[in-house]
Amino acid sequence: MAVRGDDIQRAKQLLTTGRLVAVPTETVYGLAGNALDPRAVASIYEVKNRPTFNPLITHTNSLEKVAHYVQYVPPLAQKLANAFWPGPLTLLLPKSPALPDIVTAGSDRVAVRVPQHPLTLSLLQQLDFPLAAPSANPFGYISPTNADHVQEQLGDKIGYILDGGSCSVGIESTILGIEDDAIVVYRLGGISVEELEKIHPKVQFNKHDAEEIPAAPGMLKSHYAPTKKVIIGNLIDLLPQYATQRVGLISFKNIFSQVPEEQQRILSGTGDLNEAAQRLFSALRQLDKLPIDVILAELVPNYGLGRAINDRLMRASA
Ligand code: TXA
Ligand code: MG
Repeated sequence: MAVRGDDIQRAKQLLTTGRLVAVPTETVYGLAGNALDPRAVASIYEVKNRPTFNPLITHTNSLEKVAHYVQYVPPLAQKLANAFWPGPLTLLLPKSPALPDIVTAGSDRVAVRVPQHPLTLSLLQQLDFPLAAPSANPFGYISPTNADHVQEQLGDKIGYILDGGSCSVGIESTILGIEDDAIVVYRLGGISVEELEKIHPKVQFNKHDAEEIPAAPGMLKSHYAPTKKVIIGNLIDLLPQYATQRVGLISFKNIFSQVPEEQQRILSGTGDLNEAAQRLFSALRQLDKLPIDVILAELVPNYGLGRAINDRLMRASA
C-alpha cells in the first residue's frame, strides 16, 4: 500500500529523487514523475503497463513555464490558455528539445496542461521541473477520481499518493490541437465544445479511422473500460432483454424498479451534466465490483459535458 496524505514536501522530495507520486487534479488523478528525467518517465510507462508509443501530458503551473518546453505558443493557444488555465484543457504544441523524447513517445508535439487543484498547483510551483503524468490507472482501465481508486490499483507500485479528495470535474481534460486558424478537438473532456466556441468560432474534430495509428492514442477504442461488459441503449428497451441476467444500471436521472437499488447508479437526479461527469467513473468502478453479469447504461444529453460523458460511455462499451 502507498502512504497517502497531503504532504507537499514529501511529494516534492520523492519526485526530486526520481520517484513517482499520484497527484490530484480537477479532472482525474495523475501518475506523476519528473518530466526531465527519462528514467522517471520510463517508470511511469512501466507502472501503468502502458505501451511506449502512447505519449504523456506535461504539467506545469503557468503558461510562462509551459513556454520552456514548447517551440512557440501560437496566439490562439495563448488565448485558450488565458481563458481556461488552470483548468481541464490540454494543448498540443510543437515540442522543444528541452523535453526528453520519451515524454512525447518521439512525437514532435507535446501535450501541455496547467491543472486546477490547489495541492498540485502548489507542488508544481515549488518544483523546478514539470511533471509528466498520465491518468493513474492501469492501461485501458477507468481513470481514478479519488485516492482510493489509485490505492486499489497502483498502491503497491508507487511511493506516495497526494490525497486531494474527489476530483471536481471527474472526466479527463479536453485535448486540442491548433491547425491553421482552427481548434481541433483530439479528445472531448472537461472543457465543453460550447465553451471553446465562445473563445474561437472555428472548432473542428480530429477524424481518424480505427485502422490507422490514432493521433491521440487515448482514442484507442478499448480505453476507459471496466472489466464487465457495458451495453449502451435505451434502458426501458434493454431491461427486458437482460431479464435473466444480473444487471447493473447507469442511468442519467431515473431509478428503475426492476433492478435492486444497490445495483443502480444515478448520475444526477437533477439532470446536471457537471454532476454526472463527477460521478461517472466512480459509478462504473463500483458496478464493476458487484456480482453482476453486465452493466446497462444510457447516454446523457449530448451537449456541454454530456458529449464527453457519452464519449467515455461508448468507449467503455467498445
Ligand atoms: O485530465 C487529464 O488529461 C489527465 C490528468 C492527469 O491531467 N491526464 C490524462 O492523461 O488523461 P492520459 O495519459 O491518461 O491521457 C492523455 C492522452 C493520451 O490519449 C495520449 O495519447 C494523448 O493524451 N497525448 C499525449 N501527448 C500527446 C501528443 N504529443 N500527441 C498526441 N496525443 C498525445
Ligand atoms: Mg488515461
